[in-house]
Amino acid sequence: MQRKLLLAALVAAAPMPVLAQSGDTVARSLAATCAACHGTEGRGVPQAFAALAGRPKSDLVTILQGYKTGKIPATVMHQLAKGYTDQQIETISAYFAAQKN
Ligand code: HEC
Repeated sequence: MQRKLLLAALVAAAPMPVLAQSGDTVARSLAATCAACHGTEGRGVPQAFAALAGRPKSDLVTILQGYKTGKIPATVMHQLAKGYTDQQIETISAYFAAQKN
């Protein structure tokens, strides 16, 4: 009887923190695919790749959508941007906008 109660309490307590954490983890792992070129946390690589950290979310969304739709010509980014849904582009842009450069 007591074990059942404990189990019920654990199940009831679990979802909130787990959900909050998984959202952040999704954003981080999506953004991690950009780090190879744009630097850790999008801080940029001097004289090579533009910094993304701390730039307004709406600017990043506009640029990434521009690459995705082909409105902005690119060597690499148009290929990459096509691999993300609109929702993922929102998530990634919000993530970098929140990082300090
Ligand atoms: C293979 C290297 C590479 C990866 C990985 C990469 N980028 Fe880029 N990024 C570039 C290059 C190169 C440019 C310059 C445009 C071009 O020629 O494609 C660029 C340009 C950009 C720009 C425009 C910067 C500006 O100031 O105009 C944004 C925004 C951007 N990338 C976001 C991202 C995001 C978000 C990701 C991860 C989803 C990402 N990039 C992953 C190489 C990369």
